[in-house]
Amino acid sequence: MTPMQAYTDTEMANWLESTDPAQLATLYQKAYAVKQQFVGNKVYYRGLIEFSNVCQKNCLYCGIRRGNTNVERYEMNDTEILEAACWAHQQRYGSIVLQGGERETPAFTKRIEDLLNQIHAKTNNELGITLSLGEQSESTYRRWLAAGAKRYLLRIETSNPDLYSSIHPSDHDFDRRVACLKTLHNLGWQTGTGVMIGLPGQTAMDLVKDIHFFKKLDVDMIGMGPYIPHNDTPLGQKVSNFDGARQLQRALTMIALTRMQLRDVNIAAATALQALNPQGRERGIEAGANIIMPNLTETRYRTGYQLYNGKPCMDENAGMCRFCLEGRIASVGESVGYGEQGDAPHFLRRIQHTQGNHSAA
Ligand code: 5AD
Ligand code: SF4
Ligand code: FES
Repeated sequence: MTPMQAYTDTEMANWLESTDPAQLATLYQKAYAVKQQFVGNKVYYRGLIEFSNVCQKNCLYCGIRRGNTNVERYEMNDTEILEAACWAHQQRYGSIVLQGGERETPAFTKRIEDLLNQIHAKTNNELGITLSLGEQSESTYRRWLAAGAKRYLLRIETSNPDLYSSIHPSDHDFDRRVACLKTLHNLGWQTGTGVMIGLPGQTAMDLVKDIHFFKKLDVDMIGMGPYIPHNDTPLGQKVSNFDGARQLQRALTMIALTRMQLRDVNIAAATALQALNPQGRERGIEAGANIIMPNLTETRYRTGYQLYNGKPCMDENAGMCRFCLEGRIASVGESVGYGEQGDAPHFLRRIQHTQGNHSAA
Protein backbone atom coordinates (compact mmCIF):
# COMPACT_ATOMS: atom_id res chain seq x y z
CA MET A 1 0.00 0.00 0.00
CA THR A 2 1.05 3.61 -0.43
CA PRO A 3 1.59 5.64 2.73
CA MET A 4 -1.58 7.58 1.98
CA GLN A 5 -3.88 4.60 2.05
CA ALA A 6 -5.76 4.19 5.32
CA TYR A 7 -5.92 0.96 7.26
CA THR A 8 -9.20 -0.52 8.44
CA ASP A 9 -9.79 -0.78 12.16
CA THR A 10 -9.13 -4.51 12.09
CA GLU A 11 -5.87 -4.00 10.22
CA MET A 12 -4.78 -1.40 12.77
CA ALA A 13 -5.69 -3.70 15.66
CA ASN A 14 -3.68 -6.48 14.00
CA TRP A 15 -0.68 -4.18 13.73
CA LEU A 16 -0.99 -3.31 17.42
CA GLU A 17 -1.01 -6.99 18.26
CA SER A 18 1.88 -7.84 15.96
CA THR A 19 5.19 -8.77 17.56
CA ASP A 20 7.00 -9.43 14.30
CA PRO A 21 9.98 -7.02 14.20
CA ALA A 22 10.54 -7.30 10.44
CA GLN A 23 6.91 -6.58 9.58
CA LEU A 24 6.71 -3.77 12.10
CA ALA A 25 9.86 -2.22 10.64
CA THR A 26 8.05 -1.87 7.31
CA LEU A 27 5.12 -0.16 9.06
CA TYR A 28 7.46 2.27 10.84
CA GLN A 29 9.18 3.09 7.55
CA LYS A 30 5.85 3.93 5.95
CA ALA A 31 4.90 6.11 8.90
CA TYR A 32 8.28 7.84 8.72
CA ALA A 33 7.66 8.61 5.04
CA VAL A 34 4.31 10.18 5.97
CA LYS A 35 6.05 12.25 8.65
CA GLN A 36 8.65 13.45 6.12
CA GLN A 37 5.95 14.40 3.66
CA PHE A 38 3.69 16.27 6.09
CA VAL A 39 5.97 17.71 8.78
CA GLY A 40 9.45 17.48 7.25
CA ASN A 41 12.72 16.23 8.66
CA LYS A 42 13.21 18.57 11.57
CA VAL A 43 12.58 17.67 15.16
CA TYR A 44 11.32 20.50 17.35
CA TYR A 45 12.39 20.92 20.94
CA ARG A 46 9.91 21.76 23.67
CA GLY A 47 11.92 22.57 26.76
CA LEU A 48 10.07 20.89 29.62
CA ILE A 49 9.84 22.65 32.97
CA GLU A 50 8.24 20.36 35.54
CA PHE A 51 7.80 23.15 38.01
CA SER A 52 5.88 21.38 40.77
CA ASN A 53 4.76 17.91 41.76
CA VAL A 54 1.93 19.15 43.95
CA CYS A 55 -1.27 17.62 42.56
CA GLN A 56 -4.87 17.64 43.77
CA LYS A 57 -5.65 14.45 41.87
CA ASN A 58 -5.12 10.83 42.71
CA CYS A 59 -4.82 8.95 39.40
CA LEU A 60 -4.19 5.31 40.22
CA TYR A 61 -1.16 5.00 37.91
CA CYS A 62 0.79 8.15 38.65
CA GLY A 63 3.82 8.43 40.94
CA ILE A 64 2.96 11.96 42.07
CA ARG A 65 -0.68 11.22 42.91
CA ARG A 66 -1.93 13.03 45.99
CA GLY A 67 -2.07 9.78 47.96
CA ASN A 68 1.60 8.91 47.49
CA THR A 69 3.22 9.94 50.77
CA ASN A 70 6.63 8.59 49.71
CA VAL A 71 7.26 11.55 47.47
CA GLU A 72 8.65 14.83 48.72
CA ARG A 73 6.64 17.70 47.29
CA TYR A 74 8.49 20.59 45.63
CA GLU A 75 7.63 23.86 44.01
CA MET A 76 10.05 25.80 41.81
CA ASN A 77 9.80 29.49 42.57
CA ASP A 78 9.04 32.10 39.91
CA THR A 79 12.68 33.13 39.57
CA GLU A 80 13.73 29.54 38.93
CA ILE A 81 11.00 29.09 36.33
CA LEU A 82 11.94 32.35 34.60
CA GLU A 83 15.60 31.35 34.56
CA ALA A 84 14.76 28.02 32.94
CA ALA A 85 12.60 29.76 30.33
CA CYS A 86 15.34 32.30 29.55
CA TRP A 87 17.91 29.53 29.27
CA ALA A 88 15.69 27.79 26.69
CA HIS A 89 15.35 31.07 24.78
CA GLN A 90 19.12 31.63 24.81
CA GLN A 91 19.61 28.11 23.45
CA ARG A 92 17.18 29.00 20.66
CA TYR A 93 14.62 26.41 21.68
CA GLY A 94 11.48 27.54 19.89
CA SER A 95 9.23 26.72 22.79
CA ILE A 96 8.79 25.51 26.32
CA VAL A 97 6.23 23.45 28.21
CA LEU A 98 5.14 24.37 31.71
CA GLN A 99 3.98 21.19 33.34
CA GLY A 100 2.93 20.46 36.87
CA GLY A 101 0.42 18.60 38.96
CA GLU A 102 -3.16 19.73 38.59
CA ARG A 103 -4.40 22.56 40.81
CA GLU A 104 -7.56 24.48 40.30
CA THR A 105 -7.49 27.55 42.52
CA PRO A 106 -7.76 31.28 41.83
CA ALA A 107 -4.25 31.81 43.22
CA PHE A 108 -2.82 29.19 40.85
CA THR A 109 -4.60 30.72 37.84
CA LYS A 110 -3.20 34.12 38.73
CA ARG A 111 0.31 32.83 39.32
CA ILE A 112 0.46 31.14 35.90
CA GLU A 113 -1.01 34.25 34.26
CA ASP A 114 1.68 36.42 35.84
CA LEU A 115 4.40 33.96 34.90
CA LEU A 116 3.27 33.92 31.28
CA ASN A 117 3.44 37.69 31.12
CA GLN A 118 6.88 37.74 32.68
CA ILE A 119 8.26 35.02 30.41
CA HIS A 120 7.05 36.85 27.32
CA ALA A 121 8.50 40.13 28.56
CA LYS A 122 11.89 38.54 29.20
CA THR A 123 12.08 36.58 25.95
CA ASN A 124 10.85 39.23 23.56
CA ASN A 125 7.66 37.27 22.87
CA GLU A 126 9.72 34.78 20.90
CA LEU A 127 9.04 31.65 22.91
CA GLY A 128 6.02 29.46 22.16
CA ILE A 129 4.52 28.36 25.46
CA THR A 130 2.63 25.13 26.00
CA LEU A 131 0.75 24.52 29.22
CA SER A 132 0.12 21.10 30.66
CA LEU A 133 -1.80 21.84 33.85
CA GLY A 134 -4.82 19.62 33.68
CA GLU A 135 -8.51 20.36 33.86
CA GLN A 136 -9.45 23.99 34.45
CA SER A 137 -12.49 26.20 34.03
CA GLU A 138 -13.20 27.93 30.74
CA SER A 139 -12.38 31.29 32.27
CA THR A 140 -8.96 30.05 33.39
CA TYR A 141 -8.24 28.68 29.92
CA ARG A 142 -9.29 32.07 28.50
CA ARG A 143 -7.04 34.00 30.84
CA TRP A 144 -4.00 31.87 30.13
CA LEU A 145 -4.58 32.17 26.38
CA ALA A 146 -4.92 35.93 26.71
CA ALA A 147 -1.66 36.00 28.69
CA GLY A 148 0.13 34.52 25.68
CA ALA A 149 0.28 30.74 26.04
CA LYS A 150 -0.92 29.13 22.85
CA ARG A 151 -0.72 25.39 23.18
CA TYR A 152 -2.36 23.15 25.74
CA LEU A 153 -1.69 19.50 26.36
CA LEU A 154 -4.35 17.48 28.15
CA ARG A 155 -4.13 13.75 27.74
CA ILE A 156 -7.40 11.86 27.69
CA GLU A 157 -5.33 8.87 28.95
CA THR A 158 -7.81 6.49 27.27
CA SER A 159 -10.90 7.28 25.21
CA ASN A 160 -12.73 4.27 26.67
CA PRO A 161 -14.83 5.66 29.58
CA ASP A 162 -14.95 2.28 31.36
CA LEU A 163 -11.20 1.84 31.17
CA TYR A 164 -10.83 5.47 32.30
CA SER A 165 -12.94 4.69 35.38
CA SER A 166 -10.82 1.64 36.16
CA ILE A 167 -7.60 3.69 36.39
CA HIS A 168 -9.00 6.70 38.26
CA PRO A 169 -10.79 7.26 41.57
CA SER A 170 -14.56 7.65 41.23
CA ASP A 171 -14.48 11.46 41.55
CA HIS A 172 -12.30 11.85 38.40
CA ASP A 173 -14.65 12.62 35.56
CA PHE A 174 -14.06 11.42 31.98
CA ASP A 175 -16.78 13.68 30.59
CA ARG A 176 -15.25 16.76 32.14
CA ARG A 177 -11.92 15.93 30.56
CA VAL A 178 -13.51 15.64 27.13
CA ALA A 179 -15.38 18.89 27.76
CA CYS A 180 -12.10 20.62 28.67
CA LEU A 181 -10.52 19.45 25.42
CA LYS A 182 -13.47 20.78 23.43
CA THR A 183 -13.32 24.11 25.28
CA LEU A 184 -9.61 24.46 24.56
CA HIS A 185 -10.17 23.72 20.89
CA ASN A 186 -13.07 26.17 20.65
CA LEU A 187 -11.15 28.94 22.38
CA GLY A 188 -8.43 28.69 19.73
CA TRP A 189 -5.71 26.87 21.61
CA GLN A 190 -3.41 24.64 19.63
CA THR A 191 -4.75 21.54 21.31
CA GLY A 192 -2.96 18.36 22.24
CA THR A 193 -4.06 15.13 23.77
CA GLY A 194 -2.84 11.57 24.06
CA VAL A 195 -3.16 8.29 25.84
CA MET A 196 -1.14 5.78 27.79
CA ILE A 197 -0.35 2.76 25.67
CA GLY A 198 -0.49 -0.72 27.16
CA LEU A 199 -2.66 -0.01 30.21
CA PRO A 200 -3.86 -3.04 32.14
CA GLY A 201 -7.17 -4.08 30.58
CA GLN A 202 -6.66 -2.04 27.39
CA THR A 203 -7.31 -3.86 24.11
CA ALA A 204 -5.85 -3.21 20.68
CA MET A 205 -9.30 -2.01 19.59
CA ASP A 206 -9.32 0.51 22.47
CA LEU A 207 -6.15 2.00 20.99
CA VAL A 208 -7.67 2.07 17.51
CA LYS A 209 -10.62 3.95 18.98
CA ASP A 210 -8.18 6.36 20.63
CA ILE A 211 -6.91 7.28 17.17
CA HIS A 212 -10.50 7.90 16.07
CA PHE A 213 -10.97 10.04 19.16
CA PHE A 214 -7.93 12.17 18.21
CA LYS A 215 -9.35 12.60 14.74
CA LYS A 216 -12.84 13.45 15.89
CA LEU A 217 -11.55 16.08 18.28
CA ASP A 218 -9.44 17.47 15.44
CA VAL A 219 -6.42 17.87 17.71
CA ASP A 220 -3.14 19.42 16.57
CA MET A 221 -0.69 17.67 18.85
CA ILE A 222 -0.32 14.20 20.26
CA GLY A 223 1.66 13.39 23.39
CA MET A 224 1.37 9.74 24.21
CA GLY A 225 3.64 7.12 25.63
CA PRO A 226 3.85 3.66 27.10
CA TYR A 227 2.26 3.02 30.47
CA ILE A 228 5.03 2.12 32.92
CA PRO A 229 4.16 0.83 36.40
CA HIS A 230 5.19 2.90 39.41
CA ASN A 231 5.79 0.91 42.61
CA ASP A 232 4.04 3.34 44.93
CA THR A 233 0.75 3.39 43.02
CA PRO A 234 -2.33 1.13 43.28
CA LEU A 235 -2.22 0.28 39.57
CA GLY A 236 1.54 -0.31 39.48
CA GLN A 237 1.31 -2.67 42.42
CA LYS A 238 -1.19 -4.83 40.56
CA VAL A 239 1.04 -5.33 37.51
CA SER A 240 3.16 -8.44 37.90
CA ASN A 241 4.32 -9.36 34.42
CA PHE A 242 5.46 -6.10 32.87
CA ASP A 243 7.25 -6.66 29.57
CA GLY A 244 9.13 -3.46 28.77
CA ALA A 245 10.32 -4.53 25.30
CA ARG A 246 6.81 -5.44 24.21
CA GLN A 247 5.44 -2.25 25.74
CA LEU A 248 7.92 -0.19 23.74
CA GLN A 249 7.01 -2.04 20.55
CA ARG A 250 3.30 -1.42 21.13
CA ALA A 251 3.95 2.29 21.77
CA LEU A 252 6.00 2.65 18.58
CA THR A 253 3.27 0.92 16.59
CA MET A 254 0.71 3.33 18.04
CA ILE A 255 2.88 6.31 17.05
CA ALA A 256 3.23 4.94 13.52
CA LEU A 257 -0.50 4.32 13.08
CA THR A 258 -1.38 7.72 14.53
CA ARG A 259 1.03 9.44 12.15
CA MET A 260 -0.50 7.60 9.20
CA GLN A 261 -4.05 8.51 10.22
CA LEU A 262 -3.54 12.13 11.36
CA ARG A 263 -0.60 13.05 9.10
CA ASP A 264 0.01 16.78 9.70
CA VAL A 265 -0.07 16.94 13.50
CA ASN A 266 2.86 17.20 15.89
CA ILE A 267 3.59 13.93 17.67
CA ALA A 268 5.98 13.78 20.61
CA ALA A 269 8.52 11.03 21.19
CA ALA A 270 7.72 10.77 24.91
CA THR A 271 10.40 10.51 27.56
CA ALA A 272 8.73 7.29 28.75
CA LEU A 273 9.97 5.61 25.55
CA GLN A 274 13.51 6.23 26.76
CA ALA A 275 12.67 4.69 30.14
CA LEU A 276 12.12 1.39 28.33
CA ASN A 277 15.11 1.55 26.02
CA PRO A 278 18.09 3.96 25.84
CA GLN A 279 17.25 4.53 22.15
CA GLY A 280 13.50 4.76 22.78
CA ARG A 281 13.07 8.36 21.71
CA GLU A 282 15.10 7.98 18.49
CA ARG A 283 12.98 4.99 17.66
CA GLY A 284 9.91 7.14 18.26
CA ILE A 285 11.17 9.60 15.63
CA GLU A 286 11.80 6.75 13.22
CA ALA A 287 8.22 5.56 13.76
CA GLY A 288 6.77 8.99 12.92
CA ALA A 289 7.18 11.35 15.91
CA ASN A 290 8.61 14.86 15.31
CA ILE A 291 8.75 16.51 18.73
CA ILE A 292 11.13 15.98 21.65
CA MET A 293 10.83 17.53 25.06
CA PRO A 294 14.29 18.02 26.58
CA ASN A 295 14.05 18.29 30.32
CA LEU A 296 14.86 21.76 31.71
CA THR A 297 13.89 20.97 35.29
CA GLU A 298 16.68 21.70 37.75
CA THR A 299 18.46 18.48 38.61
CA ARG A 300 17.71 18.70 42.31
CA TYR A 301 13.97 18.58 41.64
CA ARG A 302 14.01 15.81 39.05
CA THR A 303 13.67 12.86 41.42
CA GLY A 304 10.49 14.50 42.72
CA TYR A 305 8.80 14.21 39.32
CA GLN A 306 8.89 10.48 38.75
CA LEU A 307 5.53 9.57 37.30
CA TYR A 308 6.72 6.02 36.53
CA ASN A 309 9.64 3.72 37.37
CA GLY A 310 12.96 4.23 35.61
CA LYS A 311 12.45 7.78 34.30
CA PRO A 312 15.72 8.79 32.59
CA CYS A 313 17.97 11.85 33.18
CA MET A 314 17.52 12.01 36.96
CA ASP A 315 21.13 13.13 37.49
CA GLU A 316 21.52 15.21 34.34
CA ASN A 317 20.93 18.91 33.80
CA ALA A 318 19.38 20.94 30.98
CA GLY A 319 22.66 21.35 29.07
CA MET A 320 23.40 17.64 29.18
CA CYS A 321 19.94 16.74 27.91
CA ARG A 322 20.24 19.30 25.14
CA PHE A 323 23.43 17.85 23.69
CA CYS A 324 22.47 14.27 24.35
CA LEU A 325 19.23 14.65 22.44
CA GLU A 326 20.87 16.61 19.63
CA GLY A 327 23.20 13.63 19.09
CA ARG A 328 20.31 11.21 19.19
CA ILE A 329 18.36 13.25 16.63
CA ALA A 330 21.39 13.52 14.32
CA SER A 331 21.87 9.74 14.60
CA VAL A 332 18.59 9.21 12.76
CA GLY A 333 19.37 11.78 10.06
CA GLU A 334 17.21 14.62 11.39
CA SER A 335 18.11 18.06 12.68
CA VAL A 336 16.76 20.24 15.48
CA GLY A 337 14.54 23.15 14.41
CA TYR A 338 16.39 25.74 16.50
CA GLY A 339 14.82 29.18 16.64
CA GLU A 340 11.49 27.94 15.26
CA GLN A 341 8.34 27.42 17.27
CA GLY A 342 7.34 24.47 15.10
CA ASP A 343 3.57 24.91 15.08
CA ALA A 344 1.66 21.88 13.85
CA PRO A 345 0.82 22.33 10.15
CA HIS A 346 -2.60 20.98 11.06
CA PHE A 347 -3.20 23.95 13.35
CA LEU A 348 -1.96 26.48 10.81
CA ARG A 349 -4.27 25.01 8.20
CA ARG A 350 -7.35 25.03 10.40
CA ILE A 351 -6.67 28.59 11.55
CA GLN A 352 -6.26 29.74 7.94
CA HIS A 353 -9.49 28.00 7.13
CA THR A 354 -11.33 29.80 9.95
CA GLN A 355 -9.83 33.14 8.96
CA GLY A 356 -10.74 32.47 5.32
CA ASN A 357 -14.32 31.86 6.36
CA HIS A 358 -14.37 35.07 8.37
CA SER A 359 -13.08 37.18 5.50
CA ALA A 360 -15.55 35.58 3.12
CA ALA A 361 -18.41 36.37 5.47
N1 5AD B 1 3.29 5.61 33.04
C1 5AD B 1 3.29 6.36 31.92
N2 5AD B 1 2.80 7.61 31.87
C2 5AD B 1 2.28 8.13 33.00
N3 5AD B 1 1.70 9.31 33.27
C3 5AD B 1 1.37 9.35 34.56
N4 5AD B 1 1.70 8.19 35.15
C4 5AD B 1 2.26 7.40 34.20
C5 5AD B 1 2.79 6.09 34.19
N5 5AD B 1 2.81 5.33 35.31
C6 5AD B 1 1.46 10.30 32.23
C7 5AD B 1 -0.04 10.59 32.09
C8 5AD B 1 -0.15 12.08 32.35
C9 5AD B 1 1.25 12.56 32.06
C10 5AD B 1 1.60 13.84 32.72
O1 5AD B 1 2.06 11.52 32.55
O2 5AD B 1 -0.44 10.27 30.77
O3 5AD B 1 -1.10 12.71 31.53
FE1 SF4 C 1 -1.85 14.49 38.98
FE2 SF4 C 1 -1.51 14.24 36.32
FE3 SF4 C 1 -0.40 12.48 38.01
FE4 SF4 C 1 -3.07 12.47 37.65
S1 SF4 C 1 -1.47 12.01 36.07
S2 SF4 C 1 -1.99 12.36 39.64
S3 SF4 C 1 -3.46 14.67 37.39
S4 SF4 C 1 0.10 14.65 37.85
FE1 FES D 1 18.75 13.74 29.29
FE2 FES D 1 20.12 12.09 27.48
S1 FES D 1 18.15 13.03 27.32
S2 FES D 1 20.86 13.09 29.30
